[in-house]
Amino acid sequence: MKNEMTELLQSHRSIRAFTSEKVSKGMIKEIIESGRWAPTSHHVQAYSIVVVTDQQKKDTLSELCGSQKYVADCPVFFVICADYNRLKKASDKHGAPLEVGGIEQVLVGAVDAALVAENMFIAARSYGLGGVMIGGIRNLPDQVSELLDLPDYTFPVMGLCIGYPAQNPDQKPRLPKAGAVHYETYHHDQITASLEQYDKEMKQYYTERTNGTRKTTWTEMMAAHHSTPKRAHLDQFLKNQGFLHSDTKD
Ligand SMILES: Cc1cc2nc3c(=O)[nH]c(=O)nc-3n(C[C@H](O)[C@H](O)[C@H](O)COP(=O)(O)O)c2cc1C
Repeated sequence: MKNEMTELLQSHRSIRAFTSEKVSKGMIKEIIESGRWAPTSHHVQAYSIVVVTDQQKKDTLSELCGSQKYVADCPVFFVICADYNRLKKASDKHGAPLEVGGIEQVLVGAVDAALVAENMFIAARSYGLGGVMIGGIRNLPDQVSELLDLPDYTFPVMGLCIGYPAQNPDQKPRLPKAGAVHYETYHHDQITASLEQYDKEMKQYYTERTNGTRKTTWTEMMAAHHSTPKRAHLDQFLKNQGFLHSDTKD
């Protein structure tokens, strides 16, 4: 029962090298429009999109994202933010407090932003464009916020590099269905066997892709990745932006 849309979705690969061809204004407009129509929790629309095409700004963002060259090289870079700035104004307008002290509001903003970003990514791919999402935008969120003039009650969630692909990478294998998809109840017994199977598959994928120089399994990679705290500065950054306080910010 495949159709054009499911085929597009199931042919996803991140693209990290781009030709110098510009993305037309018309395409950028449609990509943004597609993002705007993402579903949103309680109709809060707690997101903003910052569109960056200025080369100097992309160069700076590339550095702030951990020297990720493709951020500078892509013709258009989007920064998708969680945004309660408008909601603060709505609350002020009606003399109501803005309650963003819980993890719930951070989740709502991040989920809204992610849905917008994925819609944009898929829309871009429908034009033959490619790209990659950039979590590195949260490496130095203070500097990113200053550069983009982000107000209180916002935070950058992810970047999105978009452009014409200059590479044709293989698809990265996904977890076996049995390890990630459950019918009616969670099937605990399928997890261990799925991980064994996936480790073999990923080891083969990396071995082939790197001519044998890298032979890591997925569980090894994940264990290493999760053995240290990640972006621990985000707690304080979010507090400075007005989130995660027990009382609201003036
Ligand atoms: C929220 C998010 C943040 C990401 N951040 C980065 C990033 O900073 N740099 C990067 O090269 N890839 C980044 N990626 C891409 C992932 O590494 C990639 O999706 C994953 O390895 C699977 O590969 P694939 O997209 O080619 O299937 C990110 C993906 C997501 C969804």
